[in-house]
Amino acid sequence: MAGYAVEIDDVTVRFRSKKRDVTALADVTMHVEPGEFVSIVGPSGCGKSTLLKLSSGLLPASKGDVRLFGEPVNGPRKDIGYVFQKAALLEWRSARKNILLQAEMRKMPAKEAAARADELIEMTGLTGFEDALPHELSGGMQQRVALCRALLHRPPVLLMDEPFGALDALTREQMNVELRRIWQETGTTVLLVTHSIAEAVYLSDQVVMISARPGTVAGVVDVNLPVERDYGPTMAEPEFAKATRHIRDHLGAATAAE
Ligand SMILES: Nc1ncnc2c1ncn2[C@@H]1O[C@H](COP(=O)(O)OP(=O)(O)OP(=O)(O)O)[C@@H](O)[C@H]1O
Ligand SMILES: [Mg+2]
Repeated sequence: MAGYAVEIDDVTVRFRSKKRDVTALADVTMHVEPGEFVSIVGPSGCGKSTLLKLSSGLLPASKGDVRLFGEPVNGPRKDIGYVFQKAALLEWRSARKNILLQAEMRKMPAKEAAARADELIEMTGLTGFEDALPHELSGGMQQRVALCRALLHRPPVLLMDEPFGALDALTREQMNVELRRIWQETGTTVLLVTHSIAEAVYLSDQVVMISARPGTVAGVVDVNLPVERDYGPTMAEPEFAKATRHIRDHLGAATAAE
Protein backbone atom coordinates (compact mmCIF):
# COMPACT_ATOMS: atom_id res chain seq x y z
CA MET A 1 0.00 0.00 0.00
CA ALA A 2 1.45 3.32 -1.05
CA GLY A 3 -0.52 5.31 1.55
CA TYR A 4 -0.50 9.07 1.34
CA ALA A 5 0.86 10.88 -1.69
CA VAL A 6 2.47 13.51 0.52
CA GLU A 7 3.09 12.94 4.21
CA ILE A 8 4.59 15.63 6.39
CA ASP A 9 4.94 14.50 9.98
CA ASP A 10 5.84 16.82 12.81
CA VAL A 11 8.24 18.78 10.64
CA THR A 12 10.27 21.75 11.78
CA VAL A 13 12.48 23.76 9.41
CA ARG A 14 15.10 26.11 10.80
CA PHE A 15 17.38 28.38 8.81
CA ARG A 16 20.53 29.24 10.68
CA SER A 17 23.04 31.84 9.60
CA LYS A 18 25.51 34.12 11.39
CA LYS A 19 23.03 36.97 11.20
CA ARG A 20 19.79 35.27 12.20
CA ASP A 21 18.09 32.13 13.24
CA VAL A 22 14.67 31.65 11.64
CA THR A 23 12.20 28.90 12.41
CA ALA A 24 10.17 28.85 9.20
CA LEU A 25 7.95 25.89 10.09
CA ALA A 26 7.25 24.41 13.50
CA ASP A 27 5.80 20.94 14.10
CA VAL A 28 3.83 20.85 10.88
CA THR A 29 1.82 17.75 10.12
CA MET A 30 -0.21 17.37 6.95
CA HIS A 31 -1.30 14.41 4.86
CA VAL A 32 -2.42 14.53 1.25
CA GLU A 33 -4.26 11.62 -0.36
CA PRO A 34 -3.32 10.49 -3.88
CA GLY A 35 -5.28 12.51 -6.42
CA GLU A 36 -6.29 15.17 -3.94
CA PHE A 37 -6.09 18.90 -4.64
CA VAL A 38 -4.83 20.72 -1.57
CA SER A 39 -4.16 24.44 -1.28
CA ILE A 40 -1.94 26.14 1.25
CA VAL A 41 -2.76 29.67 2.38
CA GLY A 42 -1.19 31.92 4.96
CA PRO A 43 0.49 35.28 5.48
CA SER A 44 3.66 36.24 3.67
CA GLY A 45 6.75 34.63 5.18
CA CYS A 46 4.82 31.92 7.05
CA GLY A 47 6.68 29.10 5.29
CA LYS A 48 4.46 28.14 2.35
CA SER A 49 7.28 27.97 -0.20
CA THR A 50 9.39 26.20 2.38
CA LEU A 51 6.66 23.58 2.69
CA LEU A 52 6.73 22.91 -1.07
CA LYS A 53 10.53 22.79 -1.19
CA LEU A 54 10.42 20.32 1.67
CA SER A 55 7.91 18.10 -0.17
CA SER A 56 10.11 18.04 -3.27
CA GLY A 57 13.27 17.26 -1.34
CA LEU A 58 14.91 20.56 -2.32
CA LEU A 59 15.18 21.39 1.35
CA PRO A 60 15.78 19.05 4.32
CA ALA A 61 13.64 19.05 7.47
CA SER A 62 15.46 20.06 10.64
CA LYS A 63 13.15 17.69 12.48
CA GLY A 64 10.39 15.27 11.48
CA ASP A 65 9.65 13.14 8.43
CA VAL A 66 8.62 13.82 4.86
CA ARG A 67 7.39 10.97 2.68
CA LEU A 68 6.09 10.74 -0.87
CA PHE A 69 3.97 7.65 -1.50
CA GLY A 70 5.38 6.13 1.65
CA GLU A 71 9.03 6.67 0.70
CA PRO A 72 11.19 8.96 2.83
CA VAL A 73 12.27 12.10 0.95
CA ASN A 74 16.02 12.47 1.46
CA GLY A 75 16.99 14.55 -1.56
CA PRO A 76 15.55 16.14 -4.72
CA ARG A 77 12.79 13.94 -6.11
CA LYS A 78 12.33 13.31 -9.78
CA ASP A 79 8.71 12.23 -9.61
CA ILE A 80 7.29 15.69 -9.03
CA GLY A 81 6.37 18.64 -11.22
CA TYR A 82 7.06 22.19 -10.02
CA VAL A 83 5.47 25.41 -11.23
CA PHE A 84 6.74 28.72 -9.88
CA GLN A 85 5.26 32.21 -9.80
CA LYS A 86 7.31 33.19 -12.81
CA ALA A 87 7.15 30.93 -15.83
CA ALA A 88 11.00 30.95 -16.09
CA LEU A 89 11.09 30.01 -19.77
CA LEU A 90 14.20 30.06 -21.93
CA GLU A 91 13.74 33.08 -24.18
CA TRP A 92 15.46 31.59 -27.19
CA ARG A 93 13.41 28.42 -27.23
CA SER A 94 9.92 28.02 -28.65
CA ALA A 95 6.97 27.08 -26.44
CA ARG A 96 7.28 23.46 -27.55
CA LYS A 97 11.03 23.33 -26.96
CA ASN A 98 10.59 24.86 -23.53
CA ILE A 99 8.11 22.11 -22.70
CA LEU A 100 10.51 19.48 -24.03
CA LEU A 101 13.30 20.76 -21.80
CA GLN A 102 11.84 18.52 -19.12
CA ALA A 103 12.32 15.51 -21.40
CA GLU A 104 15.91 16.45 -22.18
CA MET A 105 16.74 16.83 -18.51
CA ARG A 106 15.22 13.45 -17.75
CA LYS A 107 16.49 11.76 -20.89
CA MET A 108 12.96 10.66 -21.78
CA PRO A 109 12.55 8.77 -25.07
CA ALA A 110 12.10 11.49 -27.74
CA LYS A 111 9.03 9.98 -29.37
CA GLU A 112 7.14 9.53 -26.14
CA ALA A 113 8.06 13.05 -25.01
CA ALA A 114 6.92 14.58 -28.31
CA ALA A 115 3.58 12.80 -28.14
CA ARG A 116 3.03 13.87 -24.54
CA ALA A 117 3.99 17.48 -25.40
CA ASP A 118 1.41 17.52 -28.21
CA GLU A 119 -1.24 16.16 -25.85
CA LEU A 120 -0.49 18.82 -23.23
CA ILE A 121 -0.34 21.63 -25.79
CA GLU A 122 -3.84 20.67 -26.84
CA MET A 123 -5.06 20.23 -23.28
CA THR A 124 -3.88 23.72 -22.29
CA GLY A 125 -5.12 25.44 -25.43
CA LEU A 126 -1.68 26.33 -26.78
CA THR A 127 -2.33 24.80 -30.20
CA GLY A 128 -1.09 27.19 -32.88
CA PHE A 129 1.53 28.73 -30.59
CA GLU A 130 3.93 25.78 -30.38
CA ASP A 131 6.60 27.65 -32.34
CA ALA A 132 6.15 31.02 -30.64
CA LEU A 133 8.97 32.37 -28.51
CA PRO A 134 8.16 33.31 -24.90
CA HIS A 135 8.10 37.05 -25.66
CA GLU A 136 5.43 36.38 -28.27
CA LEU A 137 3.17 34.78 -25.65
CA SER A 138 0.88 36.44 -23.10
CA GLY A 139 1.55 35.97 -19.38
CA GLY A 140 -1.20 33.37 -19.14
CA MET A 141 0.17 31.47 -22.13
CA GLN A 142 3.65 31.50 -20.62
CA GLN A 143 2.24 29.96 -17.42
CA ARG A 144 0.49 27.34 -19.53
CA VAL A 145 3.86 26.46 -21.09
CA ALA A 146 5.36 26.19 -17.60
CA LEU A 147 2.46 23.93 -16.58
CA CYS A 148 2.98 21.69 -19.63
CA ARG A 149 6.69 21.49 -18.82
CA ALA A 150 5.86 20.47 -15.25
CA LEU A 151 3.40 17.78 -16.42
CA LEU A 152 5.45 16.32 -19.28
CA HIS A 153 6.81 13.35 -17.31
CA ARG A 154 3.38 12.62 -15.79
CA PRO A 155 4.41 13.40 -12.22
CA PRO A 156 2.13 11.86 -9.61
CA VAL A 157 2.60 15.04 -7.55
CA LEU A 158 2.40 18.60 -8.89
CA LEU A 159 3.68 21.42 -6.68
CA MET A 160 2.60 24.95 -7.59
CA ASP A 161 3.91 28.05 -5.85
CA GLU A 162 1.65 31.03 -6.56
CA PRO A 163 1.56 30.15 -10.25
CA PHE A 164 -1.05 32.75 -11.18
CA GLY A 165 0.04 35.62 -8.93
CA ALA A 166 1.30 37.75 -11.81
CA LEU A 167 -1.80 37.37 -14.00
CA ASP A 168 -4.72 39.77 -14.34
CA ALA A 169 -7.96 38.74 -12.62
CA LEU A 170 -9.76 37.46 -15.70
CA THR A 171 -6.82 35.42 -17.00
CA ARG A 172 -6.39 34.05 -13.52
CA GLU A 173 -10.02 32.86 -13.44
CA GLN A 174 -9.57 31.21 -16.80
CA MET A 175 -6.38 29.49 -15.61
CA ASN A 176 -8.23 28.29 -12.50
CA VAL A 177 -10.90 26.67 -14.63
CA GLU A 178 -8.25 25.08 -16.86
CA LEU A 179 -6.18 23.85 -13.95
CA ARG A 180 -9.20 22.20 -12.38
CA ARG A 181 -9.98 20.45 -15.69
CA ILE A 182 -6.36 19.38 -16.20
CA TRP A 183 -6.22 18.07 -12.65
CA GLN A 184 -9.35 16.00 -13.33
CA GLU A 185 -7.91 14.69 -16.59
CA THR A 186 -4.47 13.78 -15.23
CA GLY A 187 -5.49 12.55 -11.78
CA THR A 188 -2.31 14.03 -10.34
CA THR A 189 -2.03 15.09 -6.70
CA VAL A 190 -1.72 18.87 -6.43
CA LEU A 191 -0.27 21.04 -3.69
CA LEU A 192 -0.93 24.69 -4.52
CA VAL A 193 0.32 27.73 -2.65
CA THR A 194 -1.83 30.79 -3.19
CA HIS A 195 -2.62 34.15 -1.66
CA SER A 196 -6.12 34.05 -3.06
CA ILE A 197 -8.68 32.49 -0.75
CA ALA A 198 -11.23 32.31 -3.58
CA GLU A 199 -8.74 30.48 -5.80
CA ALA A 200 -7.92 28.05 -2.99
CA VAL A 201 -11.58 27.23 -2.32
CA TYR A 202 -12.63 27.00 -5.96
CA LEU A 203 -9.80 24.59 -6.81
CA SER A 204 -9.38 22.45 -3.74
CA ASP A 205 -10.68 19.48 -1.84
CA GLN A 206 -8.94 20.82 1.20
CA VAL A 207 -7.35 24.13 2.25
CA VAL A 208 -4.55 24.11 4.80
CA MET A 209 -4.13 27.36 6.72
CA ILE A 210 -0.67 28.20 7.98
CA SER A 211 -0.15 30.68 10.81
CA ALA A 212 2.37 33.53 10.79
CA ARG A 213 6.01 32.55 11.41
CA PRO A 214 6.90 30.14 12.76
CA GLY A 215 4.43 28.47 10.44
CA THR A 216 2.15 25.94 12.08
CA VAL A 217 -1.03 24.40 10.75
CA ALA A 218 -3.70 26.81 11.99
CA GLY A 219 -6.54 24.72 10.58
CA VAL A 220 -7.74 22.60 7.70
CA VAL A 221 -10.93 23.33 5.79
CA ASP A 222 -12.69 20.60 3.82
CA VAL A 223 -14.34 22.10 0.78
CA ASN A 224 -17.65 20.33 0.31
CA LEU A 225 -18.35 21.49 -3.21
CA PRO A 226 -19.25 19.09 -6.04
CA VAL A 227 -16.41 17.66 -8.16
CA GLU A 228 -17.84 19.33 -11.26
CA ARG A 229 -17.33 23.03 -10.68
CA ASP A 230 -18.35 25.90 -12.89
CA TYR A 231 -16.65 29.17 -11.97
CA GLY A 232 -19.63 31.53 -11.58
CA PRO A 233 -22.20 29.06 -10.22
CA THR A 234 -19.65 27.50 -7.83
CA MET A 235 -18.80 30.90 -6.38
CA ALA A 236 -22.50 31.54 -5.82
CA GLU A 237 -22.91 28.38 -3.72
CA PRO A 238 -23.46 28.88 0.02
CA GLU A 239 -20.66 26.35 0.70
CA PHE A 240 -18.24 28.56 -1.23
CA ALA A 241 -19.15 31.60 0.87
CA LYS A 242 -18.95 29.53 4.05
CA ALA A 243 -15.50 28.14 3.29
CA THR A 244 -14.00 31.48 2.16
CA ARG A 245 -15.41 33.27 5.21
CA HIS A 246 -14.08 30.61 7.54
CA ILE A 247 -10.60 30.92 6.05
CA ARG A 248 -10.68 34.72 6.03
CA ASP A 249 -11.78 34.82 9.69
CA HIS A 250 -9.04 32.40 10.60
CA LEU A 251 -6.24 34.18 8.81
CA GLY A 252 -7.47 37.66 9.67
CA ALA A 253 -6.21 40.73 7.94
CA ALA A 254 -2.73 39.26 7.52
CA THR A 255 -3.69 37.69 4.21
CA ALA A 256 -4.62 39.87 1.29
CA ALA A 257 -8.15 38.99 0.22
CA GLU A 258 -8.52 38.76 -3.54
N1 LIG B 1 17.05 29.58 2.12
C1 LIG B 1 16.68 30.31 3.17
N2 LIG B 1 17.60 30.77 4.04
C2 LIG B 1 17.23 31.49 5.13
N3 LIG B 1 15.97 31.79 5.44
C3 LIG B 1 15.01 31.36 4.60
C4 LIG B 1 15.31 30.62 3.42
N4 LIG B 1 14.16 30.34 2.78
C5 LIG B 1 13.17 30.89 3.51
N5 LIG B 1 13.68 31.51 4.61
C6 LIG B 1 12.90 32.18 5.66
O1 LIG B 1 11.85 31.32 6.06
C7 LIG B 1 10.63 32.03 6.25
C8 LIG B 1 9.56 31.44 5.38
O2 LIG B 1 9.86 31.67 4.01
P1 LIG B 1 8.94 31.18 2.80
O3 LIG B 1 9.60 31.60 1.56
O4 LIG B 1 8.64 29.76 2.97
O5 LIG B 1 7.61 32.04 3.07
P2 LIG B 1 6.27 32.12 2.20
O6 LIG B 1 5.15 31.73 3.10
O7 LIG B 1 6.43 31.37 0.95
O8 LIG B 1 6.17 33.68 1.92
P3 LIG B 1 5.58 34.46 0.62
O9 LIG B 1 4.07 34.38 0.75
O10 LIG B 1 6.04 35.87 0.83
O11 LIG B 1 6.11 33.82 -0.60
C9 LIG B 1 10.96 33.49 5.96
O12 LIG B 1 11.18 34.16 7.16
C10 LIG B 1 12.23 33.44 5.16
O13 LIG B 1 13.03 34.57 5.43
MG1 LIG C 1 6.53 31.92 -1.07
